[in-house]
Amino acid sequence: MGTVVLGTGSCLPKRILTNKELESIVDTSDEWIRSRTGIGARRIGGKGEQAYQLAAKAARRALDDAGVSVDEIDLIVLATISSHMIMPSCACLVQNEIGAKNAFAYDVNAACSGFLYGLDLADKYIQADHSKKILVIGVETLSAKLNWKDRNTCILFGDGAGAVVAGYSESDHGLMGAHFGSDGALGDLLCMHAPQSLNPDLEIEGYPGSHVLMGGREVFKHAVRAMEDSVRSLLDAQGVSMESVDLVIPHQANIRILNKLAERLNIPQEKLFINVSKYGNTSAASIPIALDEANKEGLISPGDTVLFCAFGGGFTWGAVLTKW
Ligand code: COA
Repeated sequence: MGTVVLGTGSCLPKRILTNKELESIVDTSDEWIRSRTGIGARRIGGKGEQAYQLAAKAARRALDDAGVSVDEIDLIVLATISSHMIMPSCACLVQNEIGAKNAFAYDVNAACSGFLYGLDLADKYIQADHSKKILVIGVETLSAKLNWKDRNTCILFGDGAGAVVAGYSESDHGLMGAHFGSDGALGDLLCMHAPQSLNPDLEIEGYPGSHVLMGGREVFKHAVRAMEDSVRSLLDAQGVSMESVDLVIPHQANIRILNKLAERLNIPQEKLFINVSKYGNTSAASIPIALDEANKEGLISPGDTVLFCAFGGGFTWGAVLTKW
């Protein structure tokens, strides 16, 4: 008995930016990007594809999939770090866009881990009141927050949105447990400034601009270690072995991180869902997009044990285990 995913949806921008096209933007090559990251292309938002618009489409698709009407939604929890507005929250923009007039709405910021943090919040609300139905959304338009002259970062990220409708089930299916961690001491390794202060006394010295900054090698090491530790802690706490997990849907950061994780945790390739080659790293959107694809491709059957894990700026990380 617990919190179940009633439906999934996603929405990707139309424009595909290939590695080949990136060769004319920065000093890089298709071969370098593929071999270092596994990324072949990413989607880039265009007109009518702001974060809230992509998120609203993903949300409508999740509602359709769930057979839940928008009026039944009590809460919208939305994970993002790249909405075009700081206030109103992207969640409130989505609420207005889809007409979810009975919901309250707010954003969470846990970078690439944000969707899992949001799912955990939804679980807590639903455990407290079984009648609640909640939209949990992950969306990014990181293309608007990248330094397109920095080949260390601009090749990695992409835009998109994914959503789930969460509700309560009397069956023995649902979220089994979660494990989360954060380490603010390492925040500088993967960060993005807000716009520069308009109060001279609060100006940031040496302001680098409001775009993603990253120490790639350090991030790589921490990402593998943190996700491994989180997954191990969660499986131990639940008394579940990796062999009995049917599908792992990790944050799609890059193929080398995922392969290393699979090697350390003995996850067979066929149990690891990967779509990073098509979309790059869509941060908070990557897990719900991947979940929607896995769901629509029929890769998840009722009763399957599905494991999610993520790592992102903050640092933040975590894992969630569910019986589908
Ligand atoms: N194209 C071509 N060369 C590039 C490049 C690019 N896009 N980006 C960096 N390089 C160069 C570097 O300048 C460096 O050149 P140098 O040796 O002349 O200085 C060389 O490639 C190696 O750079 P390095 O950063 O050591 O490469 P790497 O093997 O660590 O791979 C990443 C770089 C970013 C792919 C890798 O560190 C990584 O995947 N990190 C994790 C990133 C991530 O997933 N972040 C999000 C987590 S949520």
